[in-house]
Amino acid sequence: MDHFELRGGILHAEDVPLPVIAEAVGTPVYVYSTATLQRHARVFREALAGAGDVHCAFAVKANPNLAVLRVLAREGFGADVVSGGELARALAAGIAAKDIVFSGVGKSRDELALGLETGIGQFNLELEEEGVVLAELAAARGMRAPAVLRVNPDVDAGTHAKISTGKAENKFGLPIDQARAIFDRLAPLPGLDLRGVAVHIGSQLLRLDPLEKAFARVGELIAELRAASHSISHVDLGGGLGVPYRPGEAPPSPAEFGAMVARVARNWGVTLMFEPGRVIAANAGVLLTRVLWVKPGVTHPWVVVDAAMNDLARVALYDAYHDIAAVRPCGERFVANVAGPVCESSDVFANAREIDRVRRDDLIVLRSAGAYGATMASTYNSRPLVPEVLVSGERFDVVAGRITAETIMAAETVPDWLT
Ligand code: LLP
Repeated sequence: MDHFELRGGILHAEDVPLPVIAEAVGTPVYVYSTATLQRHARVFREALAGAGDVHCAFAVKANPNLAVLRVLAREGFGADVVSGGELARALAAGIAAKDIVFSGVGKSRDELALGLETGIGQFNLELEEEGVVLAELAAARGMRAPAVLRVNPDVDAGTHAKISTGKAENKFGLPIDQARAIFDRLAPLPGLDLRGVAVHIGSQLLRLDPLEKAFARVGELIAELRAASHSISHVDLGGGLGVPYRPGEAPPSPAEFGAMVARVARNWGVTLMFEPGRVIAANAGVLLTRVLWVKPGVTHPWVVVDAAMNDLARVALYDAYHDIAAVRPCGERFVANVAGPVCESSDVFANAREIDRVRRDDLIVLRSAGAYGATMASTYNSRPLVPEVLVSGERFDVVAGRITAETIMAAETVPDWLT
């Protein structure tokens, strides 16, 4: 459930009519709903209430906006970060270092050192050598780094190939059948507190069985590690839960996910950690854009909007579907293509789709854009970096301003020899 609804024929974000935001901030602009973020955070947490000691860390990559992170911090969420930049953001948003988990297949030595010096709660190791280096860096600082091994369970998540991470051929994690030997070698290192395992098989998962299969393999590994006298106190089950993008799409609910986890992890006796991103943020945001032109097409008209693939890359990258709706629907529908102004044939948000009939200057939204939206934006075609607005009840604030070509050019220089 979200808080983007028609009231009096006008689409609102909570109590704010979207045309008011378009007028004040301009378009394109991402609009997030605080109440929706809070609701999703609470639903997720409550769904896991039966799973014992649980720690939820929002996957910052899904939406790293400081205000969004602050909303989630106030809901008791920690952060799952994958770079020094995300770590800095989580801290700046007020998330305690101990509630931060550092994931990622390519952490640099500097990033590992930063994590240690900040005192983060956990490092998710992707390879044995990373564990050795982390142990050295920690020992040199008189520390023991809390860490778990991320395993690759070789399970097909059944999602888009580009967001699948748990098959043996993917770059993520270490082969689960090598985990025991690697544990044996890393656990004795004085600079490491190797305390468990992590798994994350992919994103936008629409079925629970691949997750259950992966978690069951993790359960077998825990038993094997304990039999070898390793102490296992933390298991990170990652993120990945899908959201409904298309009408009729029905991913497993957080409650169903929670019940499955409670069943599979019943006897593990560990602190369970989760790294949800999309399920918290996707439906808490829309991309608000204005129709520039309705251009005649061969089979269907082209609705050319002022948002483009540089603002929302998901469609071009993953053939993703984002629901499209008029902010002031006129009651009529038509079949159209919806595209942005970028000079690429892949800058198309919808092909031959039935949508609300719109005309030049009308406002429309691309729904479910709160996760992997603004954060993946670029300035391609020297377009401004898209701004973000956070709504709460009747108020709204610009939480990321529009960054224009002038600001970006200010960081560039023409060398002397060209002047
Ligand atoms: N934990 C790890 C280790 C991850 O790699 C990810 C996502 C998450 C948690 C959060 O997954 P979520 O709950 O959001 O599914 N840009 C793509 C999605 C990439 C996901 C990358 N990893 C998209 O727009 O669909």
